[in-house]
Amino acid sequence: MSLNAELMQRDQRHLVHSLHNPTAHLAGHMWVKGEGTDVIDADGKRYIDAMSGLWNVTLGHGRHELVDAAAKQMGELAYASGYCGNSNLQAMALGERLAELAYPNISHFFFTSGGGESTDSTIKTARHYFKAIGKPGKVKTISVMGGYHGTTLAAMCATGMPAYWPSFEPRMPGFVHIPNHDRYRYVVPPGADPATAAADELERAILAEGPDTVALFIAEPVMGGGAYVPPAGYFQRIREICDRHDVLFAADEVITGFGRTGHRFALDHWGVTPDLMQFAKGITSGYVPLGGVGLSDKVAAVFDRPGTDAWMHSYTYSGHPVACAVALAAIDILEREGLAARARVLGERLLSGLCDALGSHPNVGDIRGLGLIAAIEIVEDRSSKASFDPARKIGPQVLAQGRARGLMTRGRGDQIYLGPPLVSSETTIDRIVVTVAEAVEAVLPR
Ligand SMILES: Cc1ncc(COP(=O)(O)O)c(C=O)c1O
Repeated sequence: MSLNAELMQRDQRHLVHSLHNPTAHLAGHMWVKGEGTDVIDADGKRYIDAMSGLWNVTLGHGRHELVDAAAKQMGELAYASGYCGNSNLQAMALGERLAELAYPNISHFFFTSGGGESTDSTIKTARHYFKAIGKPGKVKTISVMGGYHGTTLAAMCATGMPAYWPSFEPRMPGFVHIPNHDRYRYVVPPGADPATAAADELERAILAEGPDTVALFIAEPVMGGGAYVPPAGYFQRIREICDRHDVLFAADEVITGFGRTGHRFALDHWGVTPDLMQFAKGITSGYVPLGGVGLSDKVAAVFDRPGTDAWMHSYTYSGHPVACAVALAAIDILEREGLAARARVLGERLLSGLCDALGSHPNVGDIRGLGLIAAIEIVEDRSSKASFDPARKIGPQVLAQGRARGLMTRGRGDQIYLGPPLVSSETTIDRIVVTVAEAVEAVLPR
């Protein structure tokens, strides 16, 4: 038995893993080292990390600036409470830095330890806001099918992937989903304007629920899982609808934030500003856990208004000084190396490479993405868009063929996801393209 296999067996004796699945786990990897955009397992086998971990290790492994920032801060002050009446220099400085970088209407921040906590904080912020302005009935959250917002209980209810729900039913009341705008599969309702139909689903849902009951619409600017890019004009229309019905609009920028789509924050592609923006992952390049929510000035104003109820929401690790120090160092690197612009250039190379290599493959239905978020959707029949029987496990076979060729990535069903680090070289992007194409052809020869 290989060392990797032996360690995975040992690991399984005591750990419950995210998305626990004992069979899949044993076929997996014990990761022992990262070098730039590569990761290496216990057998010494090297892989291109074509998912940047989980879309988070944007700067690659081995960035000593980040290591030094963490060590320096641990040496000075390992931890300080962020509860009211306490703060630390790093959290303060990160708030100042984010206020410079975020959308112009957003200059207040609440820190969390990751994406799911950020989603819960966003939902609670929206409810807190409406209670404070005398509209306590506005409590519901609307989100998009296919979207992912995490798996804490409230985040799971907002997440639009039904596979995450059954073991944990009943879901909380007050969560509603609208159809995915997926340009490949969304069917425009008869008589609707194709340019705005997917966004108008939100207005339909708000009116069906009753505008006086809806607090929040939350959506990823580009959905990481599936790489669904909205049609042009989608978010402008969403903004109008939210304004018309006094619903807060939260951008879940946990994947898209900090450069991945080619702008610092992704709604800049469409010139739209949200009321709330949540982030995590890339803010520290995954070196330490940190997330948060940015509040628009309109929302933040109610926090300090006399008569507003106390914000009884808190995390021990909110504003953790070590995490904030690493975030500041990661943002320095992102800005200094111009990595948002780099993601734009590399993303175009990735997408056009995939289209050249696989665009005419009879089982590749769609290739989509923006910046360094991409996905390939495999179908049995291109003309009808019919999927393969899931029992054939075409997607997992493609991922396995990729792994055999030294490429680590993820997928769902017969979709193959890609999200390489922002520091990837052109050569690495080209190798990803070639390897994915070989993996698809190995499973589905033309
Ligand atoms: C868009 C988005 N929101 C929220 C989350 C949840 O983040 P976490 O796993 O840190 O709770 C994720 C994780 O992948 C995500 O992609």
